[in-house]
Amino acid sequence: MSLVNVSTEDSVCTVKINRPEKLNAMNIEIAREIIKTFDTIAHDTNIKVVILTGEGGKAFSAGADIEYMSKITPDESVEYAKLGQLLTNRVELVPQPTIAAINGYALGGGCELAMSCDIRIAAKTAMLGQPEVTIGIPPGWGGTQRLMRLVGIAKAKEIVYTGKTITADEAHRIGLVNKLADPESLMDEAKAMAKTIAANSVMGVRMSKVSINQGRNADLETGLGIELLAWRNCFTHKDREERMTAFVNKSKK
Ligand code: COA
Repeated sequence: MSLVNVSTEDSVCTVKINRPEKLNAMNIEIAREIIKTFDTIAHDTNIKVVILTGEGGKAFSAGADIEYMSKITPDESVEYAKLGQLLTNRVELVPQPTIAAINGYALGGGCELAMSCDIRIAAKTAMLGQPEVTIGIPPGWGGTQRLMRLVGIAKAKEIVYTGKTITADEAHRIGLVNKLADPESLMDEAKAMAKTIAANSVMGVRMSKVSINQGRNADLETGLGIELLAWRNCFTHKDREERMTAFVNKSKK
């Protein structure tokens, strides 16, 4: 049985974490398999958008594997956290835009993985959170850094310090989740958004992602410099020329 199920349809690739009996908790093997999958996706020019989700109706992912963590040494814990950070960085930096379709629990590493995607759509029944402090650790797969960037420092501290899970509705209200969907139409909603993005210029979308990601941690002047390079890059591509010419000639591509 594969740890991660991958399927591509109409240039939209769906990646499903496949350990539903453990609520898609990510052991070392699963984390490595997701990294390998995204390495492959990064080089696949037929894939325009990626949707990341979990198998089964209950969880996107309940996070890092607590059973494994209960037995490891401090040195092994560093290796595990490094793997988790490699995983979330790998997903965040894949050139294609990514959508997390949160089909249930997204806790700890599961929430951190969802936050490394560009966009999050959650089932109205989903629950999100960073409950690490309840088991004696802080978030270690990027949660202390990415959550505050998405929802602000005050809310991030509240979520991390209390360790309480929040509803999809609350996550939507504070900006952690972009959009809510009925559980049965979650994948349709994610695919519809993916299709809209996939219909746009691949280079236009990719350069937008690079500009936003690189500019996020830079000062405005540096960010605007990155934007200029991304803009110019698109002017070297035929696709840009064809799309603009089609607009001018009123013969939409
Ligand atoms: N690591 C390892 N195993 C996990 C897990 C995790 N993060 N989350 C769930 N599981 C396992 C459970 O041990 C259980 O295994 P078992 O059937 O062999 O006993 C199985 O998944 C189902 O979970 P269970 O706890 O029985 O489901 P529930 O519906 O009662 O509770 C949760 C769901 C999500 C509230 C609960 O599983 C939970 O709190 N998980 C841990 C979440 C967490 O703290 N994540 C952060 C880790 S850093």
